[in-house]
Amino acid sequence: MDAIRHVPGSTQAFTIRQVDNNTGPADWFPEDHPPMPEVVAHGRRPGVNACGFCHYPNGKGRPNNAGPAGLPASYILQQLEDFATGGFRQWREEQLGQAKAQYDADDRHRQAHDP
Ligand code: HEC
Repeated sequence: MDAIRHVPGSTQAFTIRQVDNNTGPADWFPEDHPPMPEVVAHGRRPGVNACGFCHYPNGKGRPNNAGPAGLPASYILQQLEDFATGGFRQWREEQLGQAKAQYDADDRHRQAHDP
């Protein structure tokens, strides 16, 4: 955890603990992007992790989330509002919803035949 790590092409050095800090994640390529807004670099306490932890300091994101970099500000704000109000449904939730509906249907079917 405390051994110093490097990545190819970066002059920076971090420990795994620093890389894994979700309120101040390591920035391997600070010259690669403009200064981060405070919430992107450090999140907002309580409860908001640094956006850059998941979406990277340059906003391009990891394969398992999204790359908000370059999207229109109005679109980003709309997405955040939809996350907060439930207007945005993640595909995982969709899958869970479908799985639950399937389970309920199977259960009713089974009960109808095996009361
Ligand atoms: C814990 C990881 C995590 C953090 C921290 C995080 N996000 Fe995300 N974000 C995701 C994931 C995962 C998705 C993709 C959701 C989906 O499509 O189901 C996403 C999607 C988005 C999108 C939608 C992009 C698109 O193409 O529609 C925006 C905008 C966004 N995040 C902004 C932010 C902002 C701003 C912050 C900081 C306040 C933030 N995120 C913090 C994981 C994170």
